[in-house]
Amino acid sequence: MPIGPYQSPLAFISDAELDAHHASQLVEYQEASPQPAGLKLRGVEKRFGDNQVLRGIDLDVPAGQFVAIVGKSGCGKSTLLRLLVGLDEPTGGRIDFVDDAGRAVEPNSRIVFQEPRLLPWFSVVDNVAVGLGDGVPKAFGRREAERALAGVQLSEKAKDWPSKLSGGQRQRVALARALVSRPGLLALDEPLGALDALTRLGMQDLVTDVWRELGFTAVLVTHDVAEAVHLADRVIVLDEGRISLDLEIPRDRPRRHGDPALAEIEGKLLDTILGKA
Ligand SMILES: Nc1ncnc2c1ncn2[C@@H]1O[C@H](COP(=O)(O)OP(=O)(O)OP(=O)(O)O)[C@@H](O)[C@H]1O
Ligand SMILES: [Mg+2]
Repeated sequence: MPIGPYQSPLAFISDAELDAHHASQLVEYQEASPQPAGLKLRGVEKRFGDNQVLRGIDLDVPAGQFVAIVGKSGCGKSTLLRLLVGLDEPTGGRIDFVDDAGRAVEPNSRIVFQEPRLLPWFSVVDNVAVGLGDGVPKAFGRREAERALAGVQLSEKAKDWPSKLSGGQRQRVALARALVSRPGLLALDEPLGALDALTRLGMQDLVTDVWRELGFTAVLVTHDVAEAVHLADRVIVLDEGRISLDLEIPRDRPRRHGDPALAEIEGKLLDTILGKA
């Protein structure tokens, strides 16, 4: 068959060669998987016009730690998360990402919001693959997306449309989309806030499981102090743009709901947030 002038160069490569090429790309991609990114914040400020929202945040988060941020509505929690994942820039101070030895690392940050923000014209698995960005071979992208979906126990929904899923399932897809690229830092902004109480408890366990398995640094913003105490290694209270309390949660996992020691920590946090401490 004569070869026309517009024939793709790939037509000269055998299927086996193409597979080998994709496999080498996957190896590179896996080797490039980031390690957990520790955080180093120094004097971080954020101002919107006259509104000084963050007033000098100093914070060190070791790589792989699970931190929860709580505080009154409007105190700057989402603003801080947006700065951490690079969706906005601080107006003062600096944010560095470091490994355990203090060396600078690329964080490969991802964020999960309260709403899943799925693309309705993409299947579930393709929505997850979106999290890999451009330039990943399609077959491998799909395989990675399927792996991430299995991680959130949603393999059987891979081919469905998002509109066919429950709210909790959609949020699991959003979590898989955030995790598929193996982030070094995962920010979660009220990710369970729209779920009913029972679904929420199940999702808390799921978040704990994927964090323990994948080892990323997690920063969770939540209104629910019990959730913060149940999930995090450490809870930070933000008040008027500053850290007013930074509390370790010295409990092993798995943690039991109703543990009296956790309830006591929860009470202390609530007192601080409500200004009674
Ligand atoms: N893009 C923006 N432009 C102007 N002001 C902003 C912007 N984003 C946030 N703010 C202001 O910053 C302050 C903190 O907002 P932020 O969303 O960080 O609060 P929050 O602690 O996440 O509150 P909530 O618990 O209600 O989600 C608010 O006064 C808000 O109006
Ligand atoms: Mg917020």
